[in-house]
Amino acid sequence: MVKVLRCHEYGTPDVLRIDDVPSRDPGPGEIRVRLGACAVNFPDILLCAGTYQNKPDFPFSPGMEAAGEIIDSASDVTGFRAGDRVMLWCGPHHNGYAEEVTLPATHAYAAPAAMSDVEAAGFMLVYGTAWHGLVDCGRLQAGETVAIHGASGGVGMAAVQLAKALGATVIASAGSDAKLAIVADQGADHVINYAGEDTRQRLKELTADSGLNVAFDTVGGDPFRASLSAISPEGRILIVGFTSGDHAQAPINIILVKGASLIAVRFGWFSSTYPERTHENHAQLLALYEAGKLKPYVGRTYLLDQAVDALKALQNREVTGKIILTT
Ligand SMILES: NC(=O)c1ccc[n+]([C@@H]2O[C@H](COP(=O)([O-])OP(=O)(O)OC[C@H]3O[C@@H](n4cnc5c(N)ncnc54)[C@H](OP(=O)(O)O)[C@@H]3O)[C@@H](O)[C@H]2O)c1
Repeated sequence: MVKVLRCHEYGTPDVLRIDDVPSRDPGPGEIRVRLGACAVNFPDILLCAGTYQNKPDFPFSPGMEAAGEIIDSASDVTGFRAGDRVMLWCGPHHNGYAEEVTLPATHAYAAPAAMSDVEAAGFMLVYGTAWHGLVDCGRLQAGETVAIHGASGGVGMAAVQLAKALGATVIASAGSDAKLAIVADQGADHVINYAGEDTRQRLKELTADSGLNVAFDTVGGDPFRASLSAISPEGRILIVGFTSGDHAQAPINIILVKGASLIAVRFGWFSSTYPERTHENHAQLLALYEAGKLKPYVGRTYLLDQAVDALKALQNREVTGKIILTT
């Protein structure tokens, strides 16, 4: 039997229960993986609450990604074998908060030898979203200026590191000076505390000479309105999330006058629609990791049994960077 944390009804993270489920042999094309670490992501809270765009059947485990070692694989699986370390895209039907998981080998990527399970578990979603947003959607160029709102979170921190690696000037916003000190340490050139400063005014000041070419927004609300106010002609505002809960409005006359674009970033849709491009992006991200230009920032780890506490810490904005569960 293996331990899996699952939702049997919608609600706050407290609805998660520890279930013992039988270990499953791999079917055709599948691998069985002993997990060392499982990532916690903001959408996991939404999945538990039943407010995420995907609504898996009960019972489901909200974890989307994990890392570990292959312990068994079907005879038709090529490219992986028992003993290989992998990072996994679990998806809500594949029990991502668990000690062990059996899933299609197509959901696995080889983990670099230098990357621990704790780093590998939380790599794909945040860096994949950052790359898809900044590169595919935002066409960010070296020498451009980018504002990253919600820079202290998992996706935001990955975007700060990636934007620096791509040669951009990075303005990072977050909700506390303590978090911003860490974000600056991760490479941000300028920081804005949107809890204590006038974000619109600060962003205009900081971009008065360079202009604001790209905004990567996970927060919505005031940071979004600030980007709209500061954005340059041909600028790209990337809509990634609304952690503030404020679905800010963008008047079409302002978009026309500014000559800027609003672009929706949908990494989940992109990765299921274009798996080969997603693999290429992932390979580029791993190359940057190997070159020392990306380094996952794990703010806190919890034991798998403490997933409820981990989700509450995420919800209460207690943690900077990634939260990871260890088995
Ligand atoms: N579009 C896509 O393809 C895609 C992919 C992955 C994730 N997302 C979305 O991106 C957003 C960030 O995800 P994440 O996993 O990086 O989350 P996270 O680690 O929890 O970070 C979110 C950050 O948002 C800030 N925030 C501002 N107001 C908040 C509030 N009222 N409640 C909670 N946080 C608040 C917090 O920073 P401060 O405390 O410093 O304000 C927090 O660090 C989410 O909306 C998620 O659904 C989108």
